Amino acid sequence: MSNVVIVGAQWGDEGKGKVVDLFTSWADVVVRYQGGANAGHTLVVGGVKTVLHLVPSGILHPGKKCIIGNGVVVDPEALLEEIDLLRSRGLLADPTQLVVSENAHVILPYHKRIDAGREKQKAIGTTGRGIGPCYEDKVARRGIRVRDVLKEGALRTKLEERLREANAQIKALGGEKCELEPLMDWALKLGERMRPYVGDASEVLSHEVAKGRAVLFEGAQGTLLDIDHGTYPYVTSSNTVAGNAAVGAGLGPTAIHSVIGITKAYTTRVGNGPLPTELNDATGEKLRAVGAEYGATTGRPRRCGWLDALVLRYAARVNGLSGLAMTKLDVLTGFEKILVATAYKLPNGKTVGEFPSDPELLEQAKPIYEELPGWKEPLGNQREYQELPENTRRYIERVEQLVGVETIAVSLGAERAQTIVRKNPFRHP
Ligand code: GDP
Ligand code: IMO
Ligand code: MG
Repeated sequence: MSNVVIVGAQWGDEGKGKVVDLFTSWADVVVRYQGGANAGHTLVVGGVKTVLHLVPSGILHPGKKCIIGNGVVVDPEALLEEIDLLRSRGLLADPTQLVVSENAHVILPYHKRIDAGREKQKAIGTTGRGIGPCYEDKVARRGIRVRDVLKEGALRTKLEERLREANAQIKALGGEKCELEPLMDWALKLGERMRPYVGDASEVLSHEVAKGRAVLFEGAQGTLLDIDHGTYPYVTSSNTVAGNAAVGAGLGPTAIHSVIGITKAYTTRVGNGPLPTELNDATGEKLRAVGAEYGATTGRPRRCGWLDALVLRYAARVNGLSGLAMTKLDVLTGFEKILVATAYKLPNGKTVGEFPSDPELLEQAKPIYEELPGWKEPLGNQREYQELPENTRRYIERVEQLVGVETIAVSLGAERAQTIVRKNPFRHP
């Protein structure tokens, strides 16, 4: 067996949660390695919907180990809320099923206040979950880690120092300052409740790998939201690409054998920043309505547009994709023509086939589309690739050709069972 990374190939919300939940049947361990409760991963099994923000999407499978790696920023309240919800459903009965890295950084209330204040100055359209400010503290070597909220003395010293600066920042942004004692109380209480789950995630994971167990690395957000490779500054504050899976889980890159990029059959983005194929018209509205394109974390309407092959080629490059999984094909049923961007026309008159790294060029890029014939048949009940309408297959195969990566799975509905897997990603080629 091998170890597989799942990454978003677009701007997030591609259906990673659904695919991870399904692929967990072949895995033994599922690991989140970056991001935090800005993620919203939706799983639908037997009509029951579960939205996970921090707990890996393998948790619905009893006995499969779930790990929150050192690269994740943990909001203790959000995590415990999720744990309570799962336990109320009879899941996670054994606390050792979930391991939270003691080195993961903790999101504190001042991170959220700074996040909110900054949004008023320059709107990135963040989720407001304190993600950016927490990663800033990590890089500035002044962060509070999960291990710190388990020890009162160490926490007090660190928080006292950090709060002085954080409160100055909050004041400058016009927000309400945080008081030390209530914060200490809050953090220690939540720390105590998290304690049964906290451990050395890297060590646990390395033992699993040594035993030959199959590991599924669950990316959050998407390639175009990556802090280095995304549409900066309209990005999240972590590396979302596959290369960070090893770093954020505490393993070496040799532990990874394949990388699957998840893409919708069209494009969506929530938050600000360039989106070349965005449709501000009735077609865009139809995609939003039929695809129920509203954020799983914030409920915001998602911006919608046609599929962009330049984005997917770029995702293939920066993640080293070995396969694609295409979701929400059912949403395209009934469109007479389906468009795919195959190049951009730039303001200087040049046509490019590669995603431009210059944000100014990207802002002004006009997509050049290829038209493909649509299909009328509803999708969702097909269980074999050959049962799909001819034009659906034609669309999938044209995208494969344009991106240069094979499609190993197609998703035809939100339910776990509404998926056709063409190739098991855990099997070595
Ligand atoms: P993630 O963040 O990548 O895990 O994706 P989200 O959960 O935020 O958004 C994907 C949405 O699409 C969720 O509501 C899923 O239940 C839903 N979904 C996933 N795959 C399909 C599919 O093939 N068809 C339809 N109609 N919905 C899907
Ligand atoms: P999943 O894992 C879609 C977007 C926000 C904003 C930008 C920065 O569900 O795909 P942040 O709060 O991270 O500082 O916001 O990133 N964003 C997401 N968009 N899906 C997500 O996660 C996202 N997580 C963050 O909307 O544009
Ligand atoms: Mg999501």
